[in-house]
Amino acid sequence: MKVQVHDTLPHTLPEDDAHPYRSGAWRPQHVEYDAWDLNVEGELPGDLNGVYIRNTENPLHPPIERYHPFDGDGMLHSISFEGGEARYANRFVKTDGLIEELDSQESLWAGVAELPASAKAPHQIGARPQMKDAASTDVVVHQGRALASFYMCGDLYRLDPRTLATAGKEDWGGALPADGVSAHPKVDENTGELLFFNYGTEWPYMHYGEVSPTGELTTYQDVELPGSRLPHDMAFTENYAIVNDCPMFWDEEAMAAGLYAPRFHRDMATRFGVIPRGGGDVRWFEADPTYVLHWINAYEETTATGATEIVLDGFFQQNPSPKPRPEATLEENLYRHLDLHSMRSIPYRWRFNLETGQTIEGPLHDEILEFGMINGKYGGRPYRYSYDALPADGWFGFHGIAKHDVQSGEITTYRLPEGVYASETVMAPRDGSAAENDGYLVTFTIDLPNDRSQCVILDAANPAAGPVATISLPERMSSGTHAFWADATTL
Ligand SMILES: [Fe+2]
Repeated sequence: MKVQVHDTLPHTLPEDDAHPYRSGAWRPQHVEYDAWDLNVEGELPGDLNGVYIRNTENPLHPPIERYHPFDGDGMLHSISFEGGEARYANRFVKTDGLIEELDSQESLWAGVAELPASAKAPHQIGARPQMKDAASTDVVVHQGRALASFYMCGDLYRLDPRTLATAGKEDWGGALPADGVSAHPKVDENTGELLFFNYGTEWPYMHYGEVSPTGELTTYQDVELPGSRLPHDMAFTENYAIVNDCPMFWDEEAMAAGLYAPRFHRDMATRFGVIPRGGGDVRWFEADPTYVLHWINAYEETTATGATEIVLDGFFQQNPSPKPRPEATLEENLYRHLDLHSMRSIPYRWRFNLETGQTIEGPLHDEILEFGMINGKYGGRPYRYSYDALPADGWFGFHGIAKHDVQSGEITTYRLPEGVYASETVMAPRDGSAAENDGYLVTFTIDLPNDRSQCVILDAANPAAGPVATISLPERMSSGTHAFWADATTL
């Protein structure tokens, strides 16, 4: 392996940092590398061409008071495959907040679990403007550029997908909304469009937008909600976008006092807003109360009576608001909201009948799963396979990958050795791929026993058979959040 250090960012964290989400699998990285001629065990497939990018959180400074793992600065990791060769790079996303804190050498904004009034710097854009827009949640590739985004809404930071060279902020020709963009914008690989939403604390509380394949904002409309909400993800079909109003939102009284305290209302319906692509009236459907972090996919189906039904798959939390344990510390109770086993999140299907306005819903499986990825060419279209993370019990980490056949219900798994964690795993179709599962699963591991990270490539048709190739990386990365596969043809 040939490795070059691009930069090392100065940090002020203690050397013996023992914070549970700044040590172990969450130990932050502060060095930026370029690496090539990578050591490969097995054989790197010649028909795997494109880029796998993952976003991770890497704090540089101790928090003002209380750290939450979603407060760390965004760092992208990219591995690009071309003609049987792989190259790796990692870079911090040079957000406005990161640059200011490099200057001050301390945390200036209030983290998600901190008092908003403790922020020492001016408001940023987003639903909680006292927080730093760390661009650390999600990443997609649109118009050949990687766009890093933040779950509380903010700017979209652009980077070259292969080299991760910074390319400023996305602005869509000056039309990027003042309320910012939420994490989880969706790229429709079949049309090249980007669909997005944002949310906030002021009427209309949500907007929905569309961007053309060449980067023009073509749709931007109000989505009026009954109040401030906490939507995290959206879905789309060929003709509709689907946004959500889950009964988990900031307590209004607390908000009036300047605090953000999420409350789950178990007696309130979950509402789904169906919006025609291209813009138009929002049609609302009601369903059982829950909170959904991530959707898997959605598509349209024609019923026996000729009605159009929207099929939406995602992860239903059976226990969205785990009760605090009296014996636990405040931090421990806080981190229960990162444990998908506490929230008991299972794959689930909703059907919205556009003729009758009725919802039909129910589980697809009873296995605790989340972070489902699909072959992107099937986004918004009928599909069969979801490649999900197997969440570790008790904290926010993934100890394997589950391939879920949503038609038959069959689940096959690939489990990593003890102490090794996966990233959000993408499905990368092979060149000339003819079938939905004809391709590779690509993930980065966080390997504690060997203090290293690797890129693991599995056969998507048979992940249980184990790695096709394993590639060494320069340094163990921090476990993070979302990832994206960009086919070489889109770069
Ligand atoms: Fe997410």
